[in-house]
Amino acid sequence: MGDHAMMPQWPEFGDDEEKELLEVLHSGKWGSTSGDVVATFAQEFAEYQQAAHAVCLANGTLALAVALRAAGVGIGDEVIVPPYTFIATASAALFVGAVPVFADVDPDTHLLDPAATEAAVTPRTKAVIVVHLAGRPADMDAFTALGARHGLTVIEDAAQAHGAAYNGRPVGAIGDLGTFSFQSSKNITAGEGGAVLTDSAELAGAVYSLVNVGRVPGGGWYQHESVGYNLRLTEFQAAILRAQLRRHPQQQEVRERNAQLLTSLLSGVDGLQLAPDDPAITAHGRHLFMLRLPGRREAVLQSLTAAGFSRASSGYVPLHRNDAVRREAQAITARLGQPYPEPACPHADLVSSDTIWLPQPYLLGTESQTHALATAITEAVNA
Ligand SMILES: Cc1ncc(COP(=O)(O)O)c(C=O)c1O
Repeated sequence: MGDHAMMPQWPEFGDDEEKELLEVLHSGKWGSTSGDVVATFAQEFAEYQQAAHAVCLANGTLALAVALRAAGVGIGDEVIVPPYTFIATASAALFVGAVPVFADVDPDTHLLDPAATEAAVTPRTKAVIVVHLAGRPADMDAFTALGARHGLTVIEDAAQAHGAAYNGRPVGAIGDLGTFSFQSSKNITAGEGGAVLTDSAELAGAVYSLVNVGRVPGGGWYQHESVGYNLRLTEFQAAILRAQLRRHPQQQEVRERNAQLLTSLLSGVDGLQLAPDDPAITAHGRHLFMLRLPGRREAVLQSLTAAGFSRASSGYVPLHRNDAVRREAQAITARLGQPYPEPACPHADLVSSDTIWLPQPYLLGTESQTHALATAITEAVNA
């Protein structure tokens, strides 16, 4: 059966996106080396997330790799990452020749556990990538303290967390650097795209050069002061992103209202677990609504699909079990004669076996659609 006919589709767009796109088209300035739309969006997005600097680039995967390189992370260094995340969080470390070291997640929140992270630190550890998975901010007090204690760079993977805030501070520049994605499924999207945020002028300059073939802001065309990639975003993407950013606050209000309604409708259902409230989460990014259904996941997913909610899914296979990631990491450690940190992440194994994701467009429906979704879930659990 297909998707629930009534549930909102994604992306949402209108006259605003069309107007911005056509302006770039007619300007003839399609690249950011001649136009200023990318720079304008970068400034607007930095302000939105309360960061001093933003550099836009091709996607959230390379945003992570560039953030690591800007922080000086390189060959043989260890980067602590959670296993319950998109592959990019770990592959970014591999791209710079570093070893992703998996520390387990908290099964209640699905987020990287600070205590497990602390236990994974070795003399080779250079950075930790904290993922604000589903839009839920991680415990940044614990991670910034941990980073300071061990001299680690703290990178926030905020690919799913536009607009999220921790203790009143938007995510992205709470740690040393933060990365975002504007890929098709994300709450702000141009099909593809990414950004790196930081409060450090020095790190922002390094990111800029990595994205712009080693150029420096205000420098000459053939003035390459370091070796960098070309990862620039196009003016067309930035045009759409400017319009999407303006839509975001109102969409977030709807998502938040529906997420709270879903939470209250589902909180009494036996056999179903939701992430606990946390007063430090002053804004949730609401990219995914995650449910845990121990022993019942496959049956509930089947029922939801049959009821027309076919965009519900079973989510990640944990990365510490991904052979490609393990192979690459082992190749690096073997070459360097370093120990391969054999991961044990029982909580990631557990949550990847019992979690269901509802994607963010399901939080953009009406109140009655949200009731229908809650009823479908409740009936599936009780069946
Ligand atoms: C947690 C996380 N990190 C990184 C990425 C990578 O972003 P992109 O798809 O823009 O490369 C994504 C999304 O795809 C993600 O969900």
